[in-house]
Amino acid sequence: MEKLVVTGPTSLKGEVTISGAKNAAVAILPATLLIDGICTIENLPNISDIKISCQILEALGAKIKWNNKNSITIDTTNITTTKAPLDLTSKFRASYYIIGAMLSRMGEIEVGMPGGCKLGARPIDQHIKGFELQGATVTVEKGTIYAKAKKLKGSPVYMDIVSVGATINVMLSAVLAEGTTIIDNAAKEPHVVDVANFLNTMGADIRGAGTDVIKINGVKKLHGNATYSVVPDQIEAGTFMLAAVATRGDLLLKNCITKHLESITAKIVEVGGNVEDYGDSIRVWCNKRPNKANIKTLPYPGFPTDLQPQMGVVLSIANGSSIINESIWESRFQYTEELNKMGAKITAQGKTAFFEGVKKLYGAPVYSSDLRAGAALVIAGTVAEGTTEIYNLEHIDRGYENIEEKFRKIGAKIERVKE
Ligand code: EPZ
Repeated sequence: MEKLVVTGPTSLKGEVTISGAKNAAVAILPATLLIDGICTIENLPNISDIKISCQILEALGAKIKWNNKNSITIDTTNITTTKAPLDLTSKFRASYYIIGAMLSRMGEIEVGMPGGCKLGARPIDQHIKGFELQGATVTVEKGTIYAKAKKLKGSPVYMDIVSVGATINVMLSAVLAEGTTIIDNAAKEPHVVDVANFLNTMGADIRGAGTDVIKINGVKKLHGNATYSVVPDQIEAGTFMLAAVATRGDLLLKNCITKHLESITAKIVEVGGNVEDYGDSIRVWCNKRPNKANIKTLPYPGFPTDLQPQMGVVLSIANGSSIINESIWESRFQYTEELNKMGAKITAQGKTAFFEGVKKLYGAPVYSSDLRAGAALVIAGTVAEGTTEIYNLEHIDRGYENIEEKFRKIGAKIERVKE
């Protein structure tokens, strides 16, 4: 078993290069199944979710060559089976993208019910509704999803809720379908736009990604023979921005798209932090105790749920009382119990948490319940006086490339220790 040992307090200072976006990359890799040929994907984050994605693609017949730790060349000319390995697909969330891509490419797929962070109920009814409207039959039995379609046909698909996964999945199934699919009430996250940009680079005809209506005109074939670079990770950038505020530090984040960070920038200014925007890099610094603030998580362009725990660390040490309202996930306040072990005063009830700001946090053994909770605990450990031991690292490793090295480079005293 491994743990991270963080000794604080440290004011984080220096430069961080932001990696490619996990939630774009985990969709772009399955999207390569739509190509009858070869393509190269660059700026891939080197994280365990990407390694599992590659293993699933290889099990389906794809050939993958690693060019370096952040770039692969993938040949999807020969897809040899429509049964995705159940043990791998049930390990992480984004395995549901195999369904949209394989329905379109092969007309058939068997895949394990997706796993991933335990954030409360995570239904996939909107994905299934979209496939069925395009003419597919989908059944779920004993943890396995069986999907079939003779030839998918374009259709209007109205999403009952704004869903990143369902928007991308229906986009994948629509790319090679006969006719036009129109997704209404679509998600607008930067990773949705990035998947559309990738598919268009390969010959798809997708318009309107980034707005709430996406129109996909089905094409006969995607051509491959192209190189695509994954968009910078909005959530990793936001994590370091909030780390700068929480630790009263000064960080320059390189390789980011600052337009994607506006909701975070606004909240940082509200709590008394400073932001300088250079377009493809951003400087964040703070030299005082943060002010209180209220947050409500919302789909993009609102404040992202995936930065709610990191913002929670800032509010836990703010001057005054704050409220966070989590509107996306049922159980995203598990980290508050861990922060309370470190001296925070947080009361979470359902989807609302009340933060009574304290002056200091103190090191303690804590457990990461999910990916972003883990990132929040790393920030809290850097803020806290004394030693914090963080357990359950498999969550953090799913989504952050070399988190301890990036934190160490900006001054954190952090080590990965094997027990
Ligand atoms: C994506 O999950 C991200 N994961 C999550 O990031 C992120 O928290 C979430 O979007 C919201 O931004 C990936 O991209 C792999 P949704 P996803 O479908 O697609 C409900 C992280 O830490 N819903 O947008 O699974 C659902 O229950 C992870 O990186 C339905 O009711 O989320 C939720 O309340 C955690 N039916 C809301 O919609 C459906 O068919 C939004 O979920 C689908 C979703």
